[in-house]
Amino acid sequence: MSADEHKKMAAMRAVEMVEPGMRIGLGTGSTAAHFVALLGVRVKAGLSVICVPTSEETRKLAESRGITLSTLEEVPELDITFDGADEIDEELRMIKGGGGALLREKIVAMASDRVVIMVDDSKLVETIGAYKLPVEVVPFGLTATRDMIETLAADCGCEGELELRMTAEGQPFITDNGNYILDCDFGRIDDAEDLDDALKFIPGVVESGLFLDICDVAIIAGDEGVRVIEANRDEVDED
Ligand code: A5P
Repeated sequence: MSADEHKKMAAMRAVEMVEPGMRIGLGTGSTAAHFVALLGVRVKAGLSVICVPTSEETRKLAESRGITLSTLEEVPELDITFDGADEIDEELRMIKGGGGALLREKIVAMASDRVVIMVDDSKLVETIGAYKLPVEVVPFGLTATRDMIETLAADCGCEGELELRMTAEGQPFITDNGNYILDCDFGRIDDAEDLDDALKFIPGVVESGLFLDICDVAIIAGDEGVRVIEANRDEVDED
């Protein structure tokens, strides 16, 4: 089976967790898109839920599926969020932001009682960092911010190229919040908590793609089936 079929398998398991009346955060990316499509089928069949999307891309997709949408202004507390990830380790530390939606994803996740992450098993790693860490930065002072990231990350043992994300048309990629993204090729991140603290110290950094202590449940799908890991670190299900 392909990675995309595994993503769909994870989304199918996740959508079973949805209950009538839930206030739901909708993630961004291809796995989240599978989830939105499957949720749309349940909504068409009569399920009533209210959802907050984490990106314009997801908002459009959910609208096209007839899903009732709201905002965090109207619904500041959510029951559950379903999202994908770029990398996840067994302790449920993650790298996110491959789709550029990391800031809204983190805001929505933090507003949720529970966060469910759906991935294909290629995303499960021993130590996060092989995937370039996306860091959202304000355009003002880009070079100074980049230099500071390099310096403080090196103090945490993380060194590597920082690449300004570009569009296919050769322009800087602009997030839904009007910011840039630096993709940081740090390689293995041994102390993600330390690096996260260092990045938060930098004024030009809006948010990093390190999602630590955020995931409550990981649904990991592969050729062997679906595996569910809960944040208490107990494996609860395998089939
Ligand atoms: C979006 O900004 C990301 O955080 C996505 O959740 C992540 O890139 C996963 O994407 P896929 O589900 O497309 O692999």
